[in-house]
Amino acid sequence: MITENKHLILEEGREINDKSSWRSPSNIAIIKYWGKHGVQLPRNPSLSFTLSNAHTNTTISYQRKADSNKEISLKFLFEGQRNEIFESKVSAFLEKVTPYFPFLTQLDLEISSENSFPHSSGIASSASSMSALSLGLCDIEKRLFNSFEDDNAFLNKASFISRLGSGSACRSVYPKIGVWGVHSDYSGSSDQYAIPYIEKVHEIFTSFHDDILIVSKKEKEVSSRAGHALMEGNPYAIPRYAQANSRMSELKEILESGDLSSFGTIAESEALTLHALMMCSNPSYMLIKEGTLSIINKVYQYRKADNIPLYFTLDAGPNVHLLYPQEYAVPVGQFIESELTKHCEDGKVIKDFVGMGPQKLS
Ligand code: DP6
Repeated sequence: MITENKHLILEEGREINDKSSWRSPSNIAIIKYWGKHGVQLPRNPSLSFTLSNAHTNTTISYQRKADSNKEISLKFLFEGQRNEIFESKVSAFLEKVTPYFPFLTQLDLEISSENSFPHSSGIASSASSMSALSLGLCDIEKRLFNSFEDDNAFLNKASFISRLGSGSACRSVYPKIGVWGVHSDYSGSSDQYAIPYIEKVHEIFTSFHDDILIVSKKEKEVSSRAGHALMEGNPYAIPRYAQANSRMSELKEILESGDLSSFGTIAESEALTLHALMMCSNPSYMLIKEGTLSIINKVYQYRKADNIPLYFTLDAGPNVHLLYPQEYAVPVGQFIESELTKHCEDGKVIKDFVGMGPQKLS
C-alpha cells in the first residue's frame, strides 16, 4: 500500500543539484481498460504487453530552491522546445503527487521529454510519458532518502504514481506483461497499481511483434479521459465490465497454452468492443478512419488465405496494432509493405515488439 509520506522532506542546509533520466515504453492492452471512477480507479481489470520502440525519454533536472516558496517550480521542454500546454499539465500532475513526494516543493525542476512516436495519435503516449516521469520521481526519492526497501517497492510506487497521471501508464513499468485491476485469478492484483505478470507464459508470446500502422498522426478528436467518462452513462457498461473480467481468466490460460487462435479472437474482439462502446456512447463518436477499416479487412483476408496467425488490436485511436509471433516476421513484413502502408499517413509504421520494460538512462 502506498501512503502519503510527510517525512520525505529535505533537511535545512542540504544542497541538491542533480538529474535523473528514464526511458519508458508504451504498452498495448490485450484486455482494455475503458471506464474509470474515483481517483483514476479502473472499472475493470486490464492486461497489456509492454512495448519497446514506442517510448518516451524523460530527464528531470532538480536543484534545491533558493527560497521557501511552496509552489511547484517547473520548466518543461517537449522535444527540445518549451511547451506551456504540457508544462501546465505536468505541473498539475506534480501538485497531485506532492503528498507522496513532499520534497518536490523544495526543488526547482526542469523536465525535458521526447517521444519516439507522434503524441496523441492513439499510441498511448500518456502511458510512456507518465511512466517515464513517475520512474524519475521515484528515482529522485530513492537518491535523496534511500526510502525503498527493494526494487519491487520502487516499481510498485512508480506504478501507483503513473496511474495517477494516466491509468494505462501504470502497466508500463513492468517488462513483458502488466496487469492492472483486481481480479481473483491474479494474486496481488490491485486497482491502485499494476503488477508484473508472474504466471506461466508460452514462449511464443515473449517475442511477439506489434507493428503499429499509423493511419493518422492527428491529435484525436475525443480524449481518452472524455471517453472513460462517457462509459458512466453507457447502456452496455455493466456487461462490458463482466466480459473483461471473464476474459482475464480466459487469457491467463491462453497465455500459458500458446493458443494463438483464441488469443487473436480475444484481442480483436477487445479492440472492436472498445470502439463499439464509443459508437454507442451518448454523445456517440468514432475514432476509427477509413484506413483503419481497410487494414482490418485486409488482415481478415490475409489470415484466411495464407493461414498466418496475424491479428489486430486498436487503442483509443485510428492506428492499427498488428500482433503476430516472431517466426512470421518476414511474410508479415512483406504483406504490410505491399498492402497496408498505403493506408498509413506518410507510409508510417512503427515496428515494435514485447519489450523488457523501462530503462534508467543515467
Ligand atoms: C484504450 O490510460 O489513456 O488505451 O487514465 O484517462 O489517462 P486515462 O486514460 P488512458 O486510457 C487508455 C485506454 C486504452 C486501453 C488500455 O490501454 O487499457
